[in-house]
Amino acid sequence: MTTPTYRSALVSRRGGPETIELALRELRPPTGREVRVRMLAASLTADDVANRVGNRPILSPLPFVPGYAIIGEVDALGPDAAGLRVGDRVAALLQIGGHADFIYIDAAELCPVPTGLDPVKAAPLILNYLVAYQALHRVAGVREGQSALVVGASGGVGTALLELGRLAGLRMYGLASPRKHADVAALGATPIDYHGDVLQAIRAAAPEGVDYVFNGMADEYFGTGIKALRRGGVLVHYGGPESMWGLVALVAKLLFFTIWPNGKHVRGYGTHRVPHAQRAADWTALFSLLADGAIDPKIAAVYPLSEIVAANEHLERGDVVGTIVIRGEG
Ligand SMILES: NC(=O)c1ccc[n+]([C@@H]2O[C@H](COP(=O)([O-])OP(=O)(O)OC[C@H]3O[C@@H](n4cnc5c(N)ncnc54)[C@H](OP(=O)(O)O)[C@@H]3O)[C@@H](O)[C@H]2O)c1
Repeated sequence: MTTPTYRSALVSRRGGPETIELALRELRPPTGREVRVRMLAASLTADDVANRVGNRPILSPLPFVPGYAIIGEVDALGPDAAGLRVGDRVAALLQIGGHADFIYIDAAELCPVPTGLDPVKAAPLILNYLVAYQALHRVAGVREGQSALVVGASGGVGTALLELGRLAGLRMYGLASPRKHADVAALGATPIDYHGDVLQAIRAAAPEGVDYVFNGMADEYFGTGIKALRRGGVLVHYGGPESMWGLVALVAKLLFFTIWPNGKHVRGYGTHRVPHAQRAADWTALFSLLADGAIDPKIAAVYPLSEIVAANEHLERGDVVGTIVIRGEG
């Protein structure tokens, strides 16, 4: 009898995207509290690329299966996996492992997803919209009528910040390349080109300063972002540092700007620091917004798992607006 198998993307060398292979793995029964989840849709994110290329202070050891966040369907349950049934729709924030036909995961790490949602539209909610929602509502605590500058406004997290920021009644400005200005404007923000003197361009658009800056770029917008704030404003930094030295420098900057009495505030954010129960509560809120039609995540492109290299090439080309989604075929 032949052993059943499933496909997974596999990164065995830093670099790429051509270094990503499709490997076959054994489709075994789940054990203990494990759940075998059939991947329906997975986002492809900047962090998937950074982990593969080697642009982070802490990297997944090689070889690893990329894939940060998924929507899936319970396919089989381990003997001790409680509270779920085969066929249930679920979501998970994995960091690695999602770009595969199947994922094995502890039942406690899963969050239920309403069955009526399109998995492709729901996939960006698990990382990009979670970051945006928590940065806006848990870290910044935005209020209607306030103003915000979004760095990287056309990206996966940036478009989520614009969509959720508009829902919250913010007046928004988005840094983006000119070819993406129409998309940024369509999401309710005033687009600003960051090529050239970016601070001057921000001040021309928002002379009184902004209440919030949301920065996902490494730390190149730290100083500019602080200067763009009005007194009392808050810079929320969620960009991952690119090296151990970058991490040390980022922590030092966060500390310095926290104690420096300049009337402005900085706060760091990372999804890995958020407890699962809080993430699950915010996913549930986001699923409701999607079900009600209050949000419509911008999908840049959908690729089947078999075209994972082309999907990564597309993201790295830099012409993406919104989130690229990998569709399950298992
Ligand atoms: N802390 C966390 O938990 C967390 C979670 C998710 C993501 N992140 C971080 O958030 C960042 C954004 O992620 P993403 O998935 O949204 O990335 P993305 O989809 O690749 O978007 C990034 C955007 O930034 C713009 N950009 C590139 N270079 C720029 C520059 N020098 N100045 C201003 N804008 C520039 C690009 O558009 P243009 O064509 O306009 O340049 C691009 O659309 C990443 O650094 C990621 O690591 C952090």
